[in-house]
Parts: sequence; structure tokens; C-alpha cells
Amino acid sequence: MSDTTLYERIGGKDAIDAAVDIFYGKVLADERIKHFFDNTDMDEQRKKQKRFLAYAFGAPVKYEGKDMRTAHAHLVERGLNDDHFNAVGENLVNTLIDLKVPQDMIDEVVALVETTRDDVLGR
Ligand code: HEM
Repeated sequence: MSDTTLYERIGGKDAIDAAVDIFYGKVLADERIKHFFDNTDMDEQRKKQKRFLAYAFGAPVKYEGKDMRTAHAHLVERGLNDDHFNAVGENLVNTLIDLKVPQDMIDEVVALVETTRDDVLGR
């Protein structure tokens, strides 16, 4: 194991910013999930997601957004389920593959994202 945070190893702020931009491009083109973002201000969403990912990867920044359960409660009411969660995860992994992130780091990211599943899905 390395002492440095995943945030540093993945390439810091620039890498996270690039990943989030590519990621939302994929999500908004994905027929399985894009409807959930119909009423979302995507510029704001990108900013929040960048800060969230940076924080989740161990960066020295503070995440001041909503917790995952609160942020997605209205989507659970609209039918958000495991299939949608998996689709989002798939888009994230494909983004990291596009960015040539090594497989062991992708595995770490997947494990991190997985810890949010029950909160995002309101269980
Ligand atoms: C995979 C784990 C996920 C993480 C880490 C995550 C993270 C976030 C974050 C940080 C926010 C902003 C919270 C705030 O307003 O402060 C957010 C909002 C949102 N998320 Fe997620 N999310 C995840 C899964 C999903 C899934 C599966 C969907 C739907 C397919 C989704 C759709 C949305 C939408 C539509 C919003 C914006 C709600 C609004 O417009 O107010 N998210 N998410």
C-alpha cells in the first residue's frame, strides 16, 4: 500500500476535473439514466461532483454538499434503482479507462463508489 492518497496518485485536481467532464458527457448520452438529469443545472452539478470526488479520494478539500441519501431521495421517488446505479458506475469506469488510469486504481474507485450504494438508493 502507498502512503499517498488516491487523489494524488490519480493526478490531483486536473485529473479529477477531466474525469468529471468526460463522465457527465457519457452519462448525459446514456438512454438508461439521462432522464434523471433533465432538470439539473449541469454546470453546478459538475462543480459539486468534482469537489465530492476530490474529497472522497482523500484530497485536502472540504465537501460541503448534501449527503448522498439526501441528494438522491427525490430520484428514489422517481424509481432510481440498482440498474441505474450500475449504469452510472459503468460510465465512471469507462471514463477512467479512457484516461488510462491503471486498473488497480480503477478497482479502488469502484470500491469507494460501492460504499455509497445504499445511501444513494435510500436503503
Ligand atoms: C454512484 C454514486 C453517486 C455519487 C457519489 C453521486 C454524487 C452526487 C453528488 C455529490 C451530488 C450533488 C449533491 C448536492 O447537491 O450537494 C449528486 C446529485 C445528483 N445525482 Fe448523484 N451520485 C451518485 C449516483 C447517482 C445515480 C445512480 C444517479 C442517477 C442515475 C444520480 C443522479 C443525480 C442527480 C440527478 C443529482 C442532482 C439532483 C438535483 O438536480 O438536485 N446520482 N450526486
